[in-house]
Amino acid sequence: MTTQRSYRIATIPGDGIGKEVIPVGQRAAEAAARRHGFRLGWSEFDWSCERYAKTGRMMPEDGAAQVKGHDAIYLGAVGFPNVPDHVSLWGLLIPLRRELDLYANVRPVRLMRGVASPLTGRGPADIDFVVVRENVEGEYSEIGGRLYHGTDQETASQLAVFTRRGVDRIMDYAFQLAQTRRGHVTSATKSNGIVHTMPFWDERFAAAKARHPGVKTAQFHIDILTAHFVLHPDWFDVVVGSNLFGDILSDLGPAVAGSIGIAPSANLNPERNFPSMFEPVHGSAPDIAGQGIANPVAAVWAAAMMLDHLGEAEAARTLEAAIETSLERPETRTRDLGGTADTAGAERAIIAAIG
Ligand code: NAD
Ligand code: IPM
Ligand code: MN
Repeated sequence: MTTQRSYRIATIPGDGIGKEVIPVGQRAAEAAARRHGFRLGWSEFDWSCERYAKTGRMMPEDGAAQVKGHDAIYLGAVGFPNVPDHVSLWGLLIPLRRELDLYANVRPVRLMRGVASPLTGRGPADIDFVVVRENVEGEYSEIGGRLYHGTDQETASQLAVFTRRGVDRIMDYAFQLAQTRRGHVTSATKSNGIVHTMPFWDERFAAAKARHPGVKTAQFHIDILTAHFVLHPDWFDVVVGSNLFGDILSDLGPAVAGSIGIAPSANLNPERNFPSMFEPVHGSAPDIAGQGIANPVAAVWAAAMMLDHLGEAEAARTLEAAIETSLERPETRTRDLGGTADTAGAERAIIAAIG
């Protein structure tokens, strides 16, 4: 007797359009699972700004422990105008990334067939790269503080933290990923202006390059790199950046590929000591939340990355192909991509394409 493969997913829809797109991603993943002969079990957590308003916490104190026993975590978006962003994000998303050591944030950027890039004359062959973002240290550090509140000496300081272990492991991840793609890594730096951490980042990049002799490299200061993303997106295969630089590049990249509404993100613990977490790159979009018009593609693509990570590569390919089919025609694309579909219409096209 064979037992069916099955996976337990901790689901955190979160806030705003997170609650609209995550159910679409779940139904699309279910359809792919049926087609490929495995099962998905979902446990849902109501961790959100709404919960904060009721209980004073975004998630319980032992939140990370509650999701640890699952095979993966599927998250929508965190943050809403009723709670200050640093409170909501440091109460849920950022502690999960840290407590589960999800140090590699992998964010693919691809111009899909049928989607128009805002860059004139660019097609799918020109835009296909992955931003690899360091996800647990760097500029996102709670070391620092404020003093002399409300006086004219008021002061705020914040310390960026770059460790050899932290930088080396994200660089190695990027080089290994490049070896499975077109064999090229670009480093985002700023060693002309940031005098301690960024020269260190460059030294560790050079050391990683020496460990991976087959991989070609480039490095740019982050300022001109943003210009190259727009002018020469075809230069890039894998782009490795610190927490903040990677964050910025992973909104710019998807904009160049048509919309932030399609961009997925995998927060990985590559050693698999903890479950990895999959989410759209976008946030809760309070400006369109509740209208039923959010693009569900980022959530579905994030689900595809999750299935891939769980070892269901064929199901992941099925989801990606269904996304591409749904994006080909304006009737089945959402408005952020110049289409006319609402969230439900885009979902129908994706589910139909899964077959
Ligand atoms: P956002 O990504 O929520 O929205 C930026 C713009 O893109 C908005 O105009 C929005 O309508 C549009 N957009 C985003 N996703 C879309 C989709 N799927 N379909 C169509 N349009 C879409 O970024 P923001 O406005 O800077 O942030 C809003 C809130 O979300 C803040 O609280 C922020 O901290 C939070 N946020 C959370 C995450 C996360 O949980 N991973 C990521 C980014 C922002
Ligand atoms: C992202 C988001 C988060 C980040 C915010 C909401 C803290 O922008 O996942 O890209 O900066 O990591
Ligand atoms: Mn971001």
